[in-house]
Amino acid sequence: MQRHSVFHTVAIVLAIVLSGLSGTATAQTSSGSLYEELGSDAGISRIVDDTLLIVLQDPRIKEAFKDVNMKRLAGLLKEQFCEISGGPCRYSGDDMKLTHEGQDVSSAQFNALAEDVQIAMERLNISSSVQNKLIARLAPMKRDIVIRK
Ligand code: HEM
Repeated sequence: MQRHSVFHTVAIVLAIVLSGLSGTATAQTSSGSLYEELGSDAGISRIVDDTLLIVLQDPRIKEAFKDVNMKRLAGLLKEQFCEISGGPCRYSGDDMKLTHEGQDVSSAQFNALAEDVQIAMERLNISSSVQNKLIARLAPMKRDIVIRK
């Protein structure tokens, strides 16, 4: 938060709330898909790797990942981001509800992770409109990942 503007956080929260309201999480498969706008496999790979580096330094959430196999997690996140952005990959991991059950993830922690994804994209010079599209497709997962009220 210190290094990123409050505006950033507000934008993310807004994106999460709006997409939750409208439920627009459908992926496109045509050319010009979000997958391509993110830079296809290579671009998504960089986004995920950079995000996880940021997460591991983020005092709000790093503890949760201290015993996690980050290489495996990176591979699964790449598949997942590829699939939800309309790319050719298929996610092979466990479903979000099962995976995060027992992790006691709070709403604030979910927002922190979404913010870290956005910071990674910002550093990779991805446009805000493309950033917002990816965040909007992650946002509906909140209801499965955050169980705590
Ligand atoms: C947009 C938000 C998130 C997405 C898309 C996401 C996605 C994923 C995926 C794909 C996996 C791998 C599933 C598998 O092992 O088969 C995973 C695992 C995990 N996630 Fe999340 N996650 C999110 C938010 C969070 C948050 C906020 C936390 C905690 C602060 C968290 C904690 C974990 C942990 C600890 C694991 C490893 C579980 C294990 O290996 O036993 N996640 N997540």
